[in-house]
Amino acid sequence: MQVLLLGGHGKVALHMTPLLLNRAWNVTSVVRNPAHESEILELGKGRKGKVNVLISSLDEVKSPADARKILDSVTPDYVVWSAGAGGKGGPARTIAIDQEAAKHFMTASFASPSVSKFLMVSYIGSRKKQPRWMPDDQWAGIMHTNTEALPTYAKAKQEADEYMTALAVRRKQDTSAAPFQAINLRPGFLKDGPATRKVELGITPKGHGSVTREDVAIVADLLLARDDTEGWIDLVNGDVPVEEAVEKVAKEKIDSVEGEDVEGMVKRFFP
Ligand SMILES: NC(=O)c1ccc[n+]([C@@H]2O[C@H](COP(=O)([O-])OP(=O)(O)OC[C@H]3O[C@@H](n4cnc5c(N)ncnc54)[C@H](OP(=O)(O)O)[C@@H]3O)[C@@H](O)[C@H]2O)c1
Repeated sequence: MQVLLLGGHGKVALHMTPLLLNRAWNVTSVVRNPAHESEILELGKGRKGKVNVLISSLDEVKSPADARKILDSVTPDYVVWSAGAGGKGGPARTIAIDQEAAKHFMTASFASPSVSKFLMVSYIGSRKKQPRWMPDDQWAGIMHTNTEALPTYAKAKQEADEYMTALAVRRKQDTSAAPFQAINLRPGFLKDGPATRKVELGITPKGHGSVTREDVAIVADLLLARDDTEGWIDLVNGDVPVEEAVEKVAKEKIDSVEGEDVEGMVKRFFP
């Protein structure tokens, strides 16, 4: 398998890279800064798969055609989006990267004959409605982030997530199309520090919970490695071993998109 990893020098992506390589998958890690290349190549030493680095800035991805050029040069089976402007460069840049470039990669990936999975690293609060499993105080925390602390980021992530969801619905409706896994992994507040390998996954009342970046990478790798994972999957640290949590989400088809207006998403993007 060939994986295209966007945001390859991000903290989550650096944890994810060796896990993907250990599956004997090859990884093309996309970074904008040539100085990051050696650190990423170092991660490939002694692994079963091969890593290579593509120097390219997401600032230049202004259309699906721009994203397609990158896909065509790599022909990945799986695409992982773990990039993000991180609030640098103001609201315009957050929209350009977290929303627009992400959507362009989604459009191009769903249209690509080689790609069969797209894993988006989103965030747990990227939703419009209080879900039935989330208590008021946790939802209030999310609303604070979405309307006061990081409104542009929240809008950008919601827009990209809803677009991916609409694309996934349409793909399922097309009976002639090959299966496609649209996986929207939605961690809570990210922490550094070692993995705990214990999580709450799928739906969780802890809307304002946190999770280590290494655990996010571990869960992303486990979700990608299966052919029965898709939908919105919330993630915070908790008490359930990661393997067990992933198994449950996959087998029970747990999808935290529940409660959101999926039909409205499809109508909005594909009227
Ligand atoms: N922070 C949180 O609490 C939180 C919570 C939930 C979800 N998330 C999401 O999780 C994602 C991954 O988190 P993380 O900690 O791994 O983030 P991170 O370390 O900031 O990684 C983001 C990566 O995106 C890259 N990037 C930004 N603009 C780019 C551009 N124009 N061209 C190419 N690459 C570009 C950055 O490149 P450089 O290395 O060159 O800067 C960086 O490596 C975030 O992007 C965010 O959306 C975050």
